[in-house]
Amino acid sequence: MAHYFEEPSHTFGEYLLVPGYSSADCIPGNVSLQTPLVKFNKKSGEKSPLYLNIPMVSAIMQSVSDDNMAVALAREGGLSFIFGSQTIERQAEMVAKVKSYKAGFVKSDSNIRPEQSLKELEELTKRTGHSTVAVTEDGTSNGKLAGIITDRDYRINYCPPDAKVLDYMTPFKDMITAEEGISLSDANDLIWKHKINQLPVIDKKGNLQYLVFRKDYSSHEQHPLELLDKKHRYLVGAGINTRDYMERVPDLIKAGADVFCLDSSEGFSEWQKRALRDLHKKYGDKIKIGAGNVVDAEGFNFLAEAGADFIKVGIGGGSICITREQKGIGRGQATAIIEVAKARDEWYRRTGEYIPVCSDGGIVHDYHITLALAMGADFVMLGRYFARFDESPTSKLMVNGNYVKEYWGEGSNRARNWQRYDLGGTRELAFEEGVDSYVPYAGRLHDGVGITTSKIIHTMCNCGALSIPELQEKAKLTLISQASISEGSAHDVIVKNTSIHAE
Ligand code: IMP
Repeated sequence: MAHYFEEPSHTFGEYLLVPGYSSADCIPGNVSLQTPLVKFNKKSGEKSPLYLNIPMVSAIMQSVSDDNMAVALAREGGLSFIFGSQTIERQAEMVAKVKSYKAGFVKSDSNIRPEQSLKELEELTKRTGHSTVAVTEDGTSNGKLAGIITDRDYRINYCPPDAKVLDYMTPFKDMITAEEGISLSDANDLIWKHKINQLPVIDKKGNLQYLVFRKDYSSHEQHPLELLDKKHRYLVGAGINTRDYMERVPDLIKAGADVFCLDSSEGFSEWQKRALRDLHKKYGDKIKIGAGNVVDAEGFNFLAEAGADFIKVGIGGGSICITREQKGIGRGQATAIIEVAKARDEWYRRTGEYIPVCSDGGIVHDYHITLALAMGADFVMLGRYFARFDESPTSKLMVNGNYVKEYWGEGSNRARNWQRYDLGGTRELAFEEGVDSYVPYAGRLHDGVGITTSKIIHTMCNCGALSIPELQEKAKLTLISQASISEGSAHDVIVKNTSIHAE
């Protein structure tokens, strides 16, 4: 006989948080939004090998997560999963672009040998657009450092035609350099102390490792939560599917992807189990792979057994999603998160292993993120939210006098991501599960995320929580009636200001 869940399934808009006691320490400046991204043995005191500094990741979608979005979000402390519904080469290229992006320590990509001519130098700077060029003995980015030359060291029209770099560069002996391992703030102190614009960082043998630029440091200071790897590069994820993972993953690893996520509308399947098995067989736990989506404890336990590093929850709740209408499957997102988080806690009690849970889709208001966290999610995945910003890959248009950005589902005819929906066999999108749409334009990601995280932090203080685990432990949640929902917004007054409120 069919199984009936006893409770109706609910979504975020039907819940509120009831404040808890806030001590004098409970101030926004003391709150941390750091959260684990992948599983770890919590019982033995281990830490997760990967953390997010804010609990937000961008959706694995063509209209949301490209390299530009990934850089912008990693700067704020979150992470993007670059969409997988594109060729392996193109996806790997996007990942590589994020990994080579400047995050304080820059791989020198304009290099020249000392005996090369100024004419060659001129051609190089035109090609790369860089005015500072590292001079290394072999002309590579990791060669022995011989000097540095900038466009202020020579005037091409006044130099003899055969002039050499060697005669115009600042030689190594006159340069200020730092040794590998220096922190970004110490490097910055040296830059200021010696009034220089860039600081080469070298290893013990004198080989060039990085350059630190004065201007990059000020950008870093504005983004104190930047999500960086050990080599000071931005962290980036990649979406993969259950079809071509054995070809796709090696190229993405080569490009530098830090974490993967199996992207499927429904993850309680043998396909996901096989993909996790094959990839872990080949790479052991060197690579981290999230899986999903599921909406109940059974689905969670299945993916946990299969070795998922985090588990994504949500079917049918996405803003562009028509899965529930088309197929009649899914579950209210709040109920799904609450049940899966309970299963996760049970799994932790049994095994000592803590598997982070991601709430994917259906976030409409900022406070929905706080609710998802309070209900047990460790982080949330958002599509519509990020699609609205300048940094998303889609066009900004004027529609009916308002600026909008385009946003389309992976299961729409526009994206045709059949790998996300195919249950084996058809190799094409049998019918649409998503729509093509517009979302209101919302300006710069930095500003939007700043407001959102500020709201989360303030609500956490109201609940007496200084961290996400503390919120999960202390939160008091209440279901609300339709009448209380109406009571929750301005009512029985004529609102004067019709300007758009932030989410
Ligand atoms: P949103 O944040 O509410 O816009 O939801 C984004 C999420 O919707 C994604 O992370 C996916 O899980 C899901 N999604 C993406 N494309 C489609 C689609 O075409 N149909 C159904 N769900 C989709």
